[in-house]
Amino acid sequence: MRESDYQFIRKLVYSHSRINLGPDKKELVSARLGKRLRETKITSISDYCRFLQEREGEEELSHLIDAISTNYTFFFREIEHFDFLNKTILPEMMRRRTAAKWASFNVWSAACASGEEPYSIAIALSEYFGSQGAQPKWAWRIEATDISHRILQRARVGIYREESVSKVPATALRAHFQRGFGPQEGNYRVKPHIQHGVTFRQLNLLDGAPPFTEPFHLIFCRNVMIYFDRPTQEELIHKLSQRLVPGGYLYVGHSESLSSIKHGLETVKPAIYRKPLN
Ligand SMILES: C[S@@+](CC[C@H](N)C(=O)[O-])C[C@H]1O[C@@H](n2cnc3c(N)ncnc32)[C@H](O)[C@@H]1O
Repeated sequence: MRESDYQFIRKLVYSHSRINLGPDKKELVSARLGKRLRETKITSISDYCRFLQEREGEEELSHLIDAISTNYTFFFREIEHFDFLNKTILPEMMRRRTAAKWASFNVWSAACASGEEPYSIAIALSEYFGSQGAQPKWAWRIEATDISHRILQRARVGIYREESVSKVPATALRAHFQRGFGPQEGNYRVKPHIQHGVTFRQLNLLDGAPPFTEPFHLIFCRNVMIYFDRPTQEELIHKLSQRLVPGGYLYVGHSESLSSIKHGLETVKPAIYRKPLN
C-alpha cells in the first residue's frame, strides 16, 4: 500500500469515526481493504482511494469504516462489571429510585458491536428485576448503539456461535437462549423476552448530541476508546458524563483508563467511574 494512499485512508477514517490509525496499522489496514477490493471488484488500493473521492463512492465510506473497525466481543466480557452491577449498582439505585422519581432503570451500551454486551446486560436485569412485559419489580430499558450498520444488523438478529456464549452460566443459557438443532447446531438464539428489552440504533459517538431524552443510571463504553486519540477520549467522556444521572456509573474497558485525561468523575475501581452526586 502506497504511503499517500494510507494517509488518505487514515484522514478519511479519522474524520468520519475519529478512529485514530497510527503508522503501525498500515499492514492491518491493507489486509482489511483486501476484502473491500474483492467486493467492489476494484483492482488496486489507489483506484479504491479514487473511488472514495467520487460521488458514486459516498456509500462506500460506511463499508470502509466497517472494514477498519474491530468488532470483537462476547457475552459477559469483563465479568467483574456484571458482579458490580448486581452487588452494588442495582441495590443502590433501587434504594434511590423513589426519592429520585425514576420511572425506569436506564442503561446505554455505547459501541455495542454485534449485541453480546447489551444482551448480557438484559439477562442481568431480567434476572434481577424480572423480564420486560412480565411486570418487573422496576421497569428497565437498554439503548444499544454502534457506528456500524452491518454489525447492528447482526445484533438485531441475535444468533450467536457457541464460543460467544461460553461465559454464560448454564442456567442462564437454558433460560434465555434457544439452542439450534440440525443445520443450526452450535447456534444460540437470544429469546424474545431478552431481545425486547434492547433497542438498537446507529450512532457515531462523536457526532453531535446523542438522541436520548432520559438520563442513564449506567453507561457501558468499553473497548472503543482505545481507538481514539486523547482529545477525542476527553470529548467523549465529557459527553457521556452529561448523560448520567447524579451518582450514575460509567464502565470503560479494563485495558482503558481515564488516568491520563481530564474528567469530572470519581474513580470507584479500575474501569468503573461514578458521576458525583452534586
Ligand atoms: C471492540 S468493539 C466493543 C464491543 C463491546 N463494547 C465490548 O466491549 O465487547 C468496538 C466497537 O466500537 C465501534 N465504534 C468505533 N468507532 C465508533 C464511533 N465513533 N462511534 C460509535 N461506535 C464506534 C465499532 O464499530 C465496534 O463495533
